[in-house]
Parts: sequence; structure tokens; C-alpha cells
Amino acid sequence: MERSLVLIKPDAMERGLAGAIMGRLQGAGLKLTALRTLHMDKSLAERHYAIHKEKPFFKDLVEYITSAPIVAAIFEGDGAVERIRKLMGATDPAKAEEGTIRKDYGLDVQRNSTHASDSPENAEIEIKNFFSVKEIFS
Ligand code: RTP
Ligand code: MG
Repeated sequence: MERSLVLIKPDAMERGLAGAIMGRLQGAGLKLTALRTLHMDKSLAERHYAIHKEKPFFKDLVEYITSAPIVAAIFEGDGAVERIRKLMGATDPAKAEEGTIRKDYGLDVQRNSTHASDSPENAEIEIKNFFSVKEIFS
């Protein structure tokens, strides 16, 4: 079964949107198999976003994602990665399609409310950064 790591980012947490966003994913038939709140530290943020290390927005991104407690979750289902990316919409909320989570809740290209894994392989790597095996329903 395919899995994706989902993060509810600080901008959404600050507006009390975690439940609404996770409800949308569950409503779309995705199964919630792990859940925690945490305040990411710099080292976890740099590991999670390592692929963006050379990008001009990297420092800002690490500062932002470590600015408040977040929710980390695993959602599971057939084609979960692609389905969740579709439900979330484009990185920039201004460019996201109508009815997507980022269109409805995102504030700008950085404060876009959610993270979701971009491939099944990356999902498995990302999940290990946030959960131990015994914390996950299977
Ligand atoms: P994510 O990894 O968080 O699910 O988002 P994504 O795949 O749609 O976007 P990605 O290119 O992986 O970028 C990761 C996160 O970095 C922030 N960002 N800021 N200032 C900027 O131009 C910029 N571009 C990206 C966003 O928070 C984005 O989700
Ligand atoms: Mg990404």
C-alpha cells in the first residue's frame, strides 16, 4: 500500500486548520495511519528539505517550518502520493486549482499550509525522519 508523509505547516496550524485539512484527506478515502505534533528543529528541517539546500529560499523555508509546532501524519491508499498532491494543488496557492487545499487555505508560495511527499520513494525516506515503525498502524 502506498504512503505519503503529510505536514500541516505553521501557517495552517496558527489558523486552526489541521483538522479540516486532515478531514479532507480522509474524506477522499485516504487512511490515516500515524499522527503526531512536533516542533521541528533546525537539523530535522534541513534534513527534510535537503533537496532544496541550494535554493535561494532554503534559509527562509527552514526558519518558517521551525517557527511553530506542526502536525506530521502518514496517509495511505492506492496511489496516495499522486492523489494527495492533486488534493493539495500547486506549490503557489495563487496558481492552485479551485477546490484544492492550497487554493482554499494557502497564503503565499512559502506559507502554503501543507507538505506532501512527491514520490513513493521519497515518502518512505521522509516517514523515517518523523516516525518509528511501532508508531504506525499497518
Ligand atoms: P512541499 O515539498 O512542501 O510539499 O511543497 P512542493 O513540493 O509543492 O514544493 P517544493 O518545490 O518542494 O518546495 C518546498 C517548499 O518550499 C517553500 N517554497 N518557497 N519562496 C519560494 O519561492 C518558495 N518556493 C517553495 C514552500 O513552502 C514549498 O512548499
Ligand atoms: Mg516538495
